[in-house]
Amino acid sequence: MVLTERFRPLFPITEERSYLFAGGLAPAAIPVKAAIDGWSDRWMFDPMYHRARYFDEWENLRSRLAAVLGADPGEIAIVDNTSRGSNLAVQMIRAPAGANIVTDPTSHPSAVWPWLLPDRGPVEVRSVPDGPSSTWMKRIESLVDGDTIAVLVSHVDARTGFRHDLRELADLTRSCGGYLIVDAAQSAGAVPIDAGAAGVDFISGTLMKWLLGPPGLGYLYARREHVESLAPPHVGYVGANRDGRPDEPGNLSYRPGAVRHEIGLADLPGIAAARRGLDIILEAGIPDIERHVLELTGRMIDGLTERGIHVLTPARRTERGGVVAFHFDGAVSLCRQLRRMGVDVWGYPEDDRVRADPHLYNNPGDVDRLLEGIDAYRRARDPARASTG
Ligand SMILES: Cc1ncc(COP(=O)(O)O)c(C=O)c1O
Repeated sequence: MVLTERFRPLFPITEERSYLFAGGLAPAAIPVKAAIDGWSDRWMFDPMYHRARYFDEWENLRSRLAAVLGADPGEIAIVDNTSRGSNLAVQMIRAPAGANIVTDPTSHPSAVWPWLLPDRGPVEVRSVPDGPSSTWMKRIESLVDGDTIAVLVSHVDARTGFRHDLRELADLTRSCGGYLIVDAAQSAGAVPIDAGAAGVDFISGTLMKWLLGPPGLGYLYARREHVESLAPPHVGYVGANRDGRPDEPGNLSYRPGAVRHEIGLADLPGIAAARRGLDIILEAGIPDIERHVLELTGRMIDGLTERGIHVLTPARRTERGGVVAFHFDGAVSLCRQLRRMGVDVWGYPEDDRVRADPHLYNNPGDVDRLLEGIDAYRRARDPARASTG
């Protein structure tokens, strides 16, 4: 747990709480908060300081995101959230009559709903009947055909914690001539991604979860060949080629690279803070973060299973990341009680599901505190059952 020893002190929340919801909103690290504070102080007394550096900070963030995603900075657009990135990707893809898209029921709809907009025309949505599992690849293969224009998945699935194999999916999607669009909101920063080597077409994500930044910032990765060949659905002064006199008819052109998707000024204090979050991630190293979260999620799965709790997340290391999901009767009530005990996890009332997402600042003690909290909750509710597990 060398990683935690180094990085835990940067997260003051760890002194008080076992925070296990990185996949919701990661807590601010000291340098991340300092960046926002510093930005605000300068804003109050010297806005020109920021004005002179607008685009430097922006490019700093872009190059760090590229490092996280295994991409070239020219393949990264900075946007406001995952949903925006997914919408942009979908809007660039033409859907001929009879086209279908393929997804699964537990992936986030960020890249599914944009196909349903009325002016897109009908697209058949095909979904494997159950959530992801080891046999999911076989089941998705049976849905993909020559009319499949896109396969859409969450890399790590927020509802089950299942991690898809991006390379296999990219090979499958390419074989049918479609695009693979990946939502990496629950994976980037927790597990390695090599977008270029895997052959993914588009990736969207957010800074506020595993990348340790603030809300209101996200990204779109577009594979180099798509950056240049697919027309952006929006235009603004940041991404347009201003030297090309875009206001004259037929003259609109874009700056080279995915910056063309950026239309106006972004969240500058957020960018300053997000960069510090990415510095932590890159300094720790994503392969080491992955090892760390897999150890903690493994400990959690073992502890929950020993207690007879139905864990939805696969035990196999290659099939999970930092998210663990399990069923618990009265999930919301459990989470309320855990919160009173200093443990933060999330409960979903609709299907009595609980999510616990450890990150680099968590240690085995946090996992044990969660498990002990569950024991205490059960003892209070049903003393006989708790004593038998
Ligand atoms: C997998 C996944 N995708 C997308 C989102 C939504 O992200 P955003 O608010 O950045 O659009 C979430 C939010 O929790 C998520 O878990």
